[in-house]
Amino acid sequence: MDSGLENVVAAETILSDVDGQNGRLIIRGWPVQLLAASAAYEDAAHLLWAGFFDNLPDVAGLAARLAEARNAAFALVRKIPSGLDTVSFLRTGWSLLRDDESLDTAILLAAAAPVFTAAAVRAEQGRPAIAPDPALSQSADVLRMLTGKMPSEAEARALDAYLVTVSDHGLNASTFTARVVASTRAGLVSASVAGLSALKGPLHGGAPGPVLDMIDEIGTPENAESWIDDALARGDRLMGFGHRVYRVRDPRADALKAAVARLPGTSGRLAFAEQIEKAVLGRLAKKYPARPLDTNVEFYTALLLEALGIPRAAFTAVFATGRVLGWTAHAREQVAEGRIVRPRSVYTGPVPEPA
Ligand code: ACO
Repeated sequence: MDSGLENVVAAETILSDVDGQNGRLIIRGWPVQLLAASAAYEDAAHLLWAGFFDNLPDVAGLAARLAEARNAAFALVRKIPSGLDTVSFLRTGWSLLRDDESLDTAILLAAAAPVFTAAAVRAEQGRPAIAPDPALSQSADVLRMLTGKMPSEAEARALDAYLVTVSDHGLNASTFTARVVASTRAGLVSASVAGLSALKGPLHGGAPGPVLDMIDEIGTPENAESWIDDALARGDRLMGFGHRVYRVRDPRADALKAAVARLPGTSGRLAFAEQIEKAVLGRLAKKYPARPLDTNVEFYTALLLEALGIPRAAFTAVFATGRVLGWTAHAREQVAEGRIVRPRSVYTGPVPEPA
């Protein structure tokens, strides 16, 4: 038995490679740092979907289809019940889409993610949803719909850097979930809804909100060590640290840290976060000398999304806007290459008494 499936290889993929010993992530042949520095959301969609849909247009065509699909998704917002948290709103909205294997559905899933997320955030604030603007790139439109103001070029680029960085990452919990569902031929919507349900947990994509809570609770650099010691003594996990695969620093952490640093006005917050990071790493090394635990993607995700004015409650759903590109590509790959996923269990329950 391998609880957590740590040593199980359950798929072959051409989508991404996570090298946990050397801290390297490759997405379809590209180092993540290069993608983060230069690719837009639309580029990542094209990169991940190429070969998985017969009728994939070029990047400009895909950008136009995503823009159209944001409008189509906006028309569905009124059908989603109010009073739901952001992830539940997105999950419910996605469930309204036609569940098939088509490129239209993949595009609609990707376009609807920020439209539904922004509508949920605005509803929570007691404000009406903002209609998409098809003239904008997906990232610029996401920020506009979420914050109510037109982002600068630098802000839209920073969100691109984030969404591209998290677009795919091997067989993580949500991608594995999406592939299991896809393996039953349930459809891209079912695979993505299932992926989102796995992503939302605090040990996976729910970590960045709590990262900011931790930074706020620590408050000043002098409090860092005692706060961390208390948290570890309680048995808490420190959000934004540790990883199932990486035995060194998650390469996405530095790609996103660089994206935060490029935004004006972030140096003070960044310096404070670095002090906390140093204190956490020191304490974790002391508590777990045999188990290298380092910074993961979520620590600097939190700082980047905060610097872009995105509310904490939306962080996980914004993550899904990036990761749905990977879920849909993996779902198509699973359908093309894989069998139904069906592992076995060891029975440890009672056995029938002899008659
Ligand atoms: N804070 C405190 N202790 C930790 C942390 C942490 N962040 N991470 C691991 N540990 C501890 C574990 O409790 C375990 O201790 P134990 O042996 O006393 O039970 C020991 O370190 C070894 O744990 P691992 O085997 O490395 O943990 P695992 O692979 O099961 O979990 C996980 C990986 C879930 C990411 C874990 O490190 C964690 O909970 N981190 C905090 C949440 C987080 O940041 N999640 C985002 C991950 S990135 C992503 O999903 C997008």
